[in-house]
Amino acid sequence: MKLADNKATLSFSNGSPSVDLPVYQGSVGPDVIDIRKLYAQTGMFTYDPGFLSTASCQSAITYIDGDKGELLYRGYPIEQLATNCDFMETCHLLLYGNLPDVAAKTAFVKRVSNHTMVNEQMQFFLRGFRRDAHPMAIMTGLVGALSAFYHDSTDINNPEHREISAIRLIAKMPTLVAMAYKYSVGQPYMYPKNELSYAGNFLHMMFATPCADYVVNPVIERALDRIFVLHADHEQNASTSTVRLCGSSGTNPFAAIAAGVACLWGPAHGGANEACLNMLEDIQKMGGISKVGHFMEQVKDKNSGVKLMGFGHRVYKNYDPRAKLMQETCKEVLAELGLENDPLFKLAMALEKIALEDEYFVSRKLYPNVDFYSGIVQRAIGIPVGLFTAVFALARTVGWIAQLNEMIGDPEYKIGRPRQLFTGSVSRDVLPISKR
Ligand code: ACO
Repeated sequence: MKLADNKATLSFSNGSPSVDLPVYQGSVGPDVIDIRKLYAQTGMFTYDPGFLSTASCQSAITYIDGDKGELLYRGYPIEQLATNCDFMETCHLLLYGNLPDVAAKTAFVKRVSNHTMVNEQMQFFLRGFRRDAHPMAIMTGLVGALSAFYHDSTDINNPEHREISAIRLIAKMPTLVAMAYKYSVGQPYMYPKNELSYAGNFLHMMFATPCADYVVNPVIERALDRIFVLHADHEQNASTSTVRLCGSSGTNPFAAIAAGVACLWGPAHGGANEACLNMLEDIQKMGGISKVGHFMEQVKDKNSGVKLMGFGHRVYKNYDPRAKLMQETCKEVLAELGLENDPLFKLAMALEKIALEDEYFVSRKLYPNVDFYSGIVQRAIGIPVGLFTAVFALARTVGWIAQLNEMIGDPEYKIGRPRQLFTGSVSRDVLPISKR
């Protein structure tokens, strides 16, 4: 980051001396005011719950311009990556900063493929879960448990350990998600097939059985690969910040990524794709498109607590570029599977149309986010609703690791330790229990 020519001056109305604060510039996007010495200079903290105005780190990985609806991975627009590159190339880009040439891609794919199996003990670990356990509960446990299996890659301060744990996590996530699914339906686990693509192998592990091969349909394979590309990273979102904060204590990479999985589960974040599809199914049960008007009234009524899931975003205040790409994929998949008249897709389109014309949504700059369509695609592919967020976690793993490794390599990184504005009781004495 570069020191800007100007500086910020903070003055106080009570006569306390004003302080000058340095301003830094990134390569693009808002400048930042450096408040690191503020407490030492003034005895005050800043207050910013939800990090609405706080840059928690410097990063060179992903850039979002929410007003323009722009998303760049290492400078490349998401539209170009989604159209011209596959997920393995995207992983290489996020981890190492450059798109691979043919030789580098072949080597990277080979490296990842070598690590797709999980330790055989893992299946016994799975057995401890109820069959109806939520896949994200299982994933939180399994990803954390990886640190118990791969002791040779748990030192976050060792670059070789970080590299090998990154490859292991990217390689093993599809295997773990598919195992969580197979466990829930009582089918035997399918071993990975390394000659298949990353997405193709995931489809195989999900849908093949020992008695019947799964023939990978290239349209479905490409759609899933696109879901992975679109979800691969999204700068300092809640789960990525969780991974950074967790990793800042020096914990091992598997534990830090498990924290990211846990955070992603929430319906305001990765759980939105599941919540969105459940919402569409609920409206469908209530009467479908004819009930959209009634549902929208509930959404606009603040007391109802009902939100239009898959709409709105903390950063995108124009449109989510991923939603456009996902809508395109949604149409392709439904056409390939002969589901063009899928009632949930029609319902989603009707909801989107009404919302985009409604003053409530327009004035609040609420647009469909990627999850509005990704659920419909996944459902059409045959992925159960409860597994949607686990698929998101699979795709986001590379982003989490790239961000974690970037943080560890940053000489300015410190353990994350926010401050607070204390509003509780001031010091008081404990009375004997008989006198309370
Ligand atoms: N439905 C109805 N109203 C909404 C919605 C929605 N989906 N999203 C925001 N609003 C309203 C809020 O009630 C608020 O109204 P107000 O100004 O009258 O109080 C206004 O729009 C601003 O919303 P905030 O909640 O302040 O925006 P914030 O940036 O904090 O939240 C969030 C963003 C959490 C994504 C929110 O839009 C939401 O809950 N959306 C639904 C869940 C969802 O789809 N999440 C997926 C995010 S994308 C991802 O994780 C891949």
